[in-house]
Amino acid sequence: MTEGSTTNGAASSSLLGRNVAVSGASKGIGLGVARLLITHGAHVIGGARDVSGLEVPGAEFLTLDVTDEASVERFAARCVGAGVDALVNNAGVGVFKPVEAITPEDYRRVMDTNVLGTLLLTRALLPHFQARHAAGQSSAVVNITSDVSARTFAGGALYTASKYAQRAITQALAYEGHAYGLRVTEIRPGMVDTFFADSQPGEAHKAAWLKPEDVAGAVLYALSAPAHVRVDEVLLHPVVQDVAF
Ligand SMILES: NC(=O)c1ccc[n+]([C@@H]2O[C@H](COP(=O)([O-])OP(=O)(O)OC[C@H]3O[C@@H](n4cnc5c(N)ncnc54)[C@H](OP(=O)(O)O)[C@@H]3O)[C@@H](O)[C@H]2O)c1
Repeated sequence: MTEGSTTNGAASSSLLGRNVAVSGASKGIGLGVARLLITHGAHVIGGARDVSGLEVPGAEFLTLDVTDEASVERFAARCVGAGVDALVNNAGVGVFKPVEAITPEDYRRVMDTNVLGTLLLTRALLPHFQARHAAGQSSAVVNITSDVSARTFAGGALYTASKYAQRAITQALAYEGHAYGLRVTEIRPGMVDTFFADSQPGEAHKAAWLKPEDVAGAVLYALSAPAHVRVDEVLLHPVVQDVAF
């Protein structure tokens, strides 16, 4: 499939005129989201700490460290200038250790990126989304959490704590955003073949895992839903993953 076409070969413009901010857009799921949304007509403003060498027609990439308030404010200012109508909080890291091995540095890295980062970037764009509502325009926030945002496992204490927290933030924001027409979605993928946790895409044991474009499809579904529809949550797994809810 080439950019600008859909699986049935037809051009799609379901997001034409839309401007979407994506954090962690330099690789993995975030880059897959950026690519798919562009294919469907959106302009994407993507951020990551290292955006060197990234060239995707339809996207602009800016340096963004979601743990750094000043960096977030700079990124958000460009997003507001571009009139973004949606934010995809995707930037995230994972550290997997038994409880007795978790260090304060591990804690700060994971919680600052996954939880504080989600809070800072969302907070920076909410006044803009509220102003859009006052002008009769709707906006959306899509948070990429995980299938483990509501369950845990041995070695997963820190990562799943961050994902439970992201889920709580997502749901609280949905209640708060109701007042200004904000549509809030949690995307909960199972195992995805990316660079996550210092892995490499294409490793043999990941052959049957979800691909970034599978998760991107869920984001597209949420962002292109009819105006009266709010997609609260999407849980998706590769067929080979043990069924776990
Ligand atoms: N892979 C999986 O199996 C899986 C499953 C469920 C959920 N998820 C979630 O999906 C999201 C994306 O993960 P992925 O699998 O695509 O991982 P990835 O391939 O490692 O990509 C992570 C992205 O986040 C960016 N990032 C990391 N720290 C950042 C920071 N402080 N500020 C801004 N950007 C930052 C990275 O760029 P820089 O390093 O250049 O900043 C990169 O663009 C994460 O939230 C993860 O928890 C992943």
